[in-house]
Amino acid sequence: MTDPQKVLAERVQQALASAFGAEHADADPLIRPSQFADFQANVAMSLAKRLRRAPREVAEAIRAELSDFPGTVEVSGPGFLNITLDDGWIASEATLVYKDPRSGVATIAPAQTVVIDYSAPNAAKEMHVGHLRTTIVGDCLARVHEHLGNHVIRQNHLGDWGTPFGMLIEHLLDIGEEAAVAQLEAGQGTEYYQAARAKFDGDESFKQRSRVRVTTLQSGDPETMRLWHVFMDATVRYFNKVYSMLGVTLTDADLAGESMYNPMLEKTCQDLEAAGVATISEGALCVFPPGFTGSDDKPLPLIVRKSDGGYGYASTDMAAIRYRVHDLKADRILYVVGADQALHFRMVFAAARLAGWLPDTVSAEHVQIGMMLGKDGRRFKTRSGESVKLMDLLQEAIDRASAAIADRGYDEVTREAITHSVGMGAVKYADLSVNHDSEYVFDFDRMLGFTGNTGPYMQYATARIRSIFRKAGRSPEETTGPIVLGEPAERALGLHLLGFGETVEQVATLSEPHRLCAFLFETASLFSTFYEECPVTKEGVDPETSARRLALCALTLRVLETGLDLLGVPVPERM
Ligand code: ARG
Repeated sequence: MTDPQKVLAERVQQALASAFGAEHADADPLIRPSQFADFQANVAMSLAKRLRRAPREVAEAIRAELSDFPGTVEVSGPGFLNITLDDGWIASEATLVYKDPRSGVATIAPAQTVVIDYSAPNAAKEMHVGHLRTTIVGDCLARVHEHLGNHVIRQNHLGDWGTPFGMLIEHLLDIGEEAAVAQLEAGQGTEYYQAARAKFDGDESFKQRSRVRVTTLQSGDPETMRLWHVFMDATVRYFNKVYSMLGVTLTDADLAGESMYNPMLEKTCQDLEAAGVATISEGALCVFPPGFTGSDDKPLPLIVRKSDGGYGYASTDMAAIRYRVHDLKADRILYVVGADQALHFRMVFAAARLAGWLPDTVSAEHVQIGMMLGKDGRRFKTRSGESVKLMDLLQEAIDRASAAIADRGYDEVTREAITHSVGMGAVKYADLSVNHDSEYVFDFDRMLGFTGNTGPYMQYATARIRSIFRKAGRSPEETTGPIVLGEPAERALGLHLLGFGETVEQVATLSEPHRLCAFLFETASLFSTFYEECPVTKEGVDPETSARRLALCALTLRVLETGLDLLGVPVPERM
């Protein structure tokens, strides 16, 4: 265990137990970074109240128990414990992290099975910007859990079923399969949908045909199913283009769209009804999970079968949660979905608990994704008010990145690779670096900036360290250490790097990628200061100092690159 805050917390808790009795061993020691020392522990103040003793006296008693501590502890003010770690301790811990190929990230034992439901665009419409965030955040969580050794099962819950497919298939017949496929593959799903919709609203016989088609589709008629596949396959090919452009890890093996649950829906309803969990209300089969009421104080229904016998979004999610627990053996299920669906998921989870399908040992969590806003603070749209096509947006990011590095003298191929990494890195990092549930303003200028907490800044920080090694004529893997921390800037960087493992673990526990971004940004900033103040390869630096500083550079580089890889942000070697 290397994370200093964790080490300190444990030591202070031991001190609490020996000073005041075992019943205080699990009190929160309230360790915080401090202006006056490395950390401060504030527990004496809260404990003093409970013990009815003077806080300073309590603080002194804790300090007395910390005699074999690898640092100094001072009591200050009303009873703060100011804690400064020994340089030697930090250096030897940093050397351990440096020697560890995983840079201090432990593997979780026993491994958990984590099902992650993310991306989930709707086939009947174009994949829109809202799905960008669910895709990017979900993919980061999948990478993090995998890195920690958990068994990750990705589930792309595509919207690939429902009544609109009647008109979509009829429209496909009208324009011809080839033309339809070409249009869908090109990402013009919205135009396709709108054309079908216009006919549905304006042409009575088309409407009639569409209605009949819904029924033949639902009955599993082979020719209709073939047409549905033609439509879906072309749509998925477009989604895959977006995924590969973004460097997202989803593959066809992860497709688990709504249609997959069709064969389970009848039984889902039967079992809910037989168990008394669902009841018929106004013709529909509903679950009324306790604690959910509408504005009129009436219990809110989760409709699992509509009054016309049809199934909807909630039916599918009930079947899906049961499948994920029972068949996929999930320990944890993460739903990376828009915040506007919070009520839906709370009700689904509550209904599944009622039915006994979601035991207490399994946690189901809605990782809420805040809405993407335009610079005007409104829902992100094109100037003409249409929703923005994802491919166009990504292409624009790449074009802008290209303009930003146009003057750096790279050949065509290198420049294209860098531009792609910078453009996609900027978009992804911007999504990840803010709290996933807060609304977020999509702003190319900010996300493509080379300063501040941005993708390009982080990429530049790693490229700069790579160039230090090129200048030194060595590879980062060739450094030997140990890490010695003489200067304050070295010490600050070394101390910070000890927290990497704990940060990654927290991202997994709390589903908060922005914590990793903040950690990496701080890493890059501390590195900058170190590099300004501590020459690494300059003439006049003695070989030993140079070697140990190179080791610190190597560790910093590995932490930055591992971290960016966990975020799914590509790292160009040069920039
Ligand atoms: N397709 C849905 C949408 O775009 C998201 C699906 C999320 N997953 C789920 N299990 N309901 O809003």
